[in-house]
Amino acid sequence: MLMLRKTAGAIPKPPKSKVYGFLRRFIVHPRTLSCHKLVLGIETSCDDTGAAVVDETGNVLGEALHSQTQVHLKTGGIVPPVAQQLHRENIQRIVEETLSASRITPSDLSAIATTIKPGLALSLGVGLSFSLQLVNRFKKPFIPIHHMEAHALTIRLTNKVEFPFLVLLISGGHCLLALVQGVSDFLLLGKSLDIAPGDMLDKVARRLSLIKHPECSTMSGGKAIEHLAKDGNRFHFTINPPMQNAKNCDFSFTGLQHITDKLITHKEKEEGIEKGQILSSAADIAAAVQHATACHLAKRTHRAILFCKQKNLLSPANAVLVVSGGVASNLYIRKALEIVANATQCTLLCPPPRLCTDNGIMIAWNGIERLRAGLGVLHDVEDIRYEPKCPLGVDISREVAEAAIKVPRLKMAL
Ligand code: KG4
Ligand code: ZN
Repeated sequence: MLMLRKTAGAIPKPPKSKVYGFLRRFIVHPRTLSCHKLVLGIETSCDDTGAAVVDETGNVLGEALHSQTQVHLKTGGIVPPVAQQLHRENIQRIVEETLSASRITPSDLSAIATTIKPGLALSLGVGLSFSLQLVNRFKKPFIPIHHMEAHALTIRLTNKVEFPFLVLLISGGHCLLALVQGVSDFLLLGKSLDIAPGDMLDKVARRLSLIKHPECSTMSGGKAIEHLAKDGNRFHFTINPPMQNAKNCDFSFTGLQHITDKLITHKEKEEGIEKGQILSSAADIAAAVQHATACHLAKRTHRAILFCKQKNLLSPANAVLVVSGGVASNLYIRKALEIVANATQCTLLCPPPRLCTDNGIMIAWNGIERLRAGLGVLHDVEDIRYEPKCPLGVDISREVAEAAIKVPRLKMAL
């Protein structure tokens, strides 16, 4: 699970010589460019160092991404100081590669947009500190970005989607259901009461020692579970989805993790193998836990759609459901959500997998959206701080629970 610091913090300073050494390499000169506005987006909220330049029509001029997944797979989870160090080692190169791929210099930019919330304090600090150096040196406006808002709006870069739409954000650090009414206008319908689905799948994958599996050794936990589940039979084990009687849109995943953990311990005894070896029934367990996860996500999302339609928050006939975040790249989970979308006359849209996971493009695009709407574009960055914890939008989950909507049973023939 991601360890988030409770309070907003001071910005750790990267070595100055390093940053300025990089900035000096850009010779500031007037040049003719496309008349489009350009935003540089920088993402360092968790374990990916990402940057991209996007123009106001949604063209990606250049991008670069450094993923720390392989390092954290070996340590069995994200160690924040290690993530911070890796961001420090890579941010300069990533921004440099992005700008040169975009064939621009920082002076060509209309603004710099950077994730400042929520996320790991040590990671957020690296991106913010680096961005502010650029902002001050090149006298550019700064656009602070909410990581989850950026995930939610990515779909407007790839598809023509008007407000309002419903979004399910599922990753290693988050699980949120929200109604997106505008660029910075979100209603939170539900969230995970404990861990995120990606975090749970990562833990199950670790408990199954999938890193030792020849086909899964370089995959994230969630991806490894999906891969293995294809060869498994979900009917061999019964893992029930949680919160069946709670008529709200909240989620819970620790129960699933503990049940699966117990099941693995039981099977290890039965098969007479040590913890750390791969069970012969690993694929069946992966299939069962993936199915329970898909059903849980589907049921809460189904209720959220019904709530929004009942309250006229979504068009009755033309509603859009967007699913994003790392776990949204799971095709089995997408299928479950497709069943819900079909049953409720919704259109299900997911960004392509590389835009579901953390990246610089979504941050740059959120910068463009904010620039176009004139929202949160700062010319004075004196008081700017990162915020490790930050809710998304206005929380109406109590109202959702009070509506106590009964969700009709759907046949999850996956
Ligand atoms: O959005 P993301 O890149 O980072 C944050 O957590 O913010 O999501 C990473 C999470 C990890 O927990 C990973 O195991 C999960 O997404 N994930 C998947 C799949 N690919 C990545 N979970 C299920 N199925 C997948 N195919
Ligand atoms: Zn994310």
